Amino acid sequence: MRIHPKRITQRIIIILILFIAGHIFIKWNNISSENTAPYFKQLSGLRASQTVFIPTTIGITSSNITSVENGSAKIKHKILWPDKHYFNNDRIINQLNFKPNMSQSNSQVPLKTILLVTSRGHWNTQTFGQQTFLDQKCLVNTCALTKSREVISTADAVIIHQSSKIHWTKRPRDQIWILYMLESPENTVSLKPFGNVFNWTATYRHDSDIVTPYEKFVPYDENVKFLPQNKNYAVGKTKMVAWFASNCKTKNRRKEYALELAKYIHVDIYGHCGNLKCPKKDKDCLDVLNTDYKFYLSFENSNCRDYITEKFFINGLQHDVIPIVMGAAPEDYARAAPPHSFIHVDEFDSPEELAQYLHKLDKNDDLYNDYFRWKNTGTFINTYFWCRVCALLHETSRESQSYRDLEKWWRGDGVCIGKDNWRRKRRKSKYIVEDFLN
Ligand SMILES: *[C@@H]1O[C@H](CO)[C@@H](O)[C@H](O)[C@H]1NC(C)=O
Ligand SMILES: *[C@@H]1O[C@H](CO)[C@@H](O)[C@H](O)[C@H]1NC(C)=O
Ligand SMILES: *[C@@H]1O[C@H](CO)[C@@H](O)[C@H](O)[C@H]1NC(C)=O
Ligand SMILES: *[C@@H]1O[C@H](CO)[C@@H](O)[C@H](O)[C@H]1NC(C)=O
Repeated sequence: MRIHPKRITQRIIIILILFIAGHIFIKWNNISSENTAPYFKQLSGLRASQTVFIPTTIGITSSNITSVENGSAKIKHKILWPDKHYFNNDRIINQLNFKPNMSQSNSQVPLKTILLVTSRGHWNTQTFGQQTFLDQKCLVNTCALTKSREVISTADAVIIHQSSKIHWTKRPRDQIWILYMLESPENTVSLKPFGNVFNWTATYRHDSDIVTPYEKFVPYDENVKFLPQNKNYAVGKTKMVAWFASNCKTKNRRKEYALELAKYIHVDIYGHCGNLKCPKKDKDCLDVLNTDYKFYLSFENSNCRDYITEKFFINGLQHDVIPIVMGAAPEDYARAAPPHSFIHVDEFDSPEELAQYLHKLDKNDDLYNDYFRWKNTGTFINTYFWCRVCALLHETSRESQSYRDLEKWWRGDGVCIGKDNWRRKRRKSKYIVEDFLN
């Protein structure tokens, strides 16, 4: 499971405390003015997953988040929705900065009701009504969350997460149905029973309408990819590879890979798949990645497009260790990760070759430290999913849209590759959601 209730509670408490503290430092006015920093920047350090509070603004400007060459002119284009011309952009920053043209102030705009429907999924919030939007200081906060199914014929939006059955009768013409997915296609329900009901998608896939990555790295300055580091990340480390896993039988056969790798380099396996212990509730367990180990196996349970979880973003990148990744395709990691921050298993023909490379890095501190030069060049931001949903529900200029065959988009050929290697799987479809629009 991705987020434990305990962690959510901890996060909310930390966010609230830091938020109040932040208020003392930050002059909070005029948030919708074009010239001020994006409103969420001040909050960017306020993550439970982060130890450092960064109250100052970070170096992305809302004015030119997406600028593209068009002929000779560089045009500014603030895109909110998937568009094949901006395939690599997840539009999250644009959406966070988006304020629809509402003539009234927040307090006069009628609330948009959002119905949450799930049978076994989790929601990334524990408060309902308007509270979530107020707590998170959303730029647009005129929405209310509810789990009461009786509003189904009046709600402005219906979000469906891991639910296979839903009965509805009268669907209002302008009601938006949103598909919400956090787990990989190998662990989610079939979408076939739903037919063409969905208008928007909200998943970790970067061609979703509202992209919901596990974490998002944002550079402070687009032009500064690397910084000199004042430490040697190899010093004091006596162990080679660590792996933490509880689920040993997965389609991508990550355990078999790890065991094969262990024939050529020392691999310590914690959890059910090995004989070292690290209780899940012991948060300090992963500290050994900072001090003892040179490499960490950031192996997902599924090899699927864009499927990159906290195993990479938190356990890997947010420790002083080189993550060795298996899961999404190499280009997906490259799009989501800081430059030169990981090793993908598909860079090597076999676990044996990977081990040879790791031995080479072990013997050469300069090569090893090259994987850490991105540190301090950016931060992991809170992507404020609910704030973005709310703002976009108030956007009236988008033409109506709905998807067909989302099952094929979500789970079709080439999305997940089982135990195969991404190098042997050339992308067949354009993998862009426009192919599935009605
Ligand atoms: C944003 O605009 C500034 C000034 O026009 C420019 O120097 C910078 O490269 C732009 N950044 C991006 C990411 O396009
Ligand atoms: C580029 O400019 C042309 C003409 O102004 C316009 O039709 C086209 O849509 C633009 N392309 C993009 C990607 O914005
Ligand atoms: C916003 O809406 C008002 C009233 O509908 C209109 O007069 C104004 O031109 C709009 N502004 C923009 C930037 O679209
Ligand atoms: C949402 O999808 C439904 C079903 O396909 C469609 O009838 C409706 O027009 C769409 N609404 C909007 C606002 O996009």
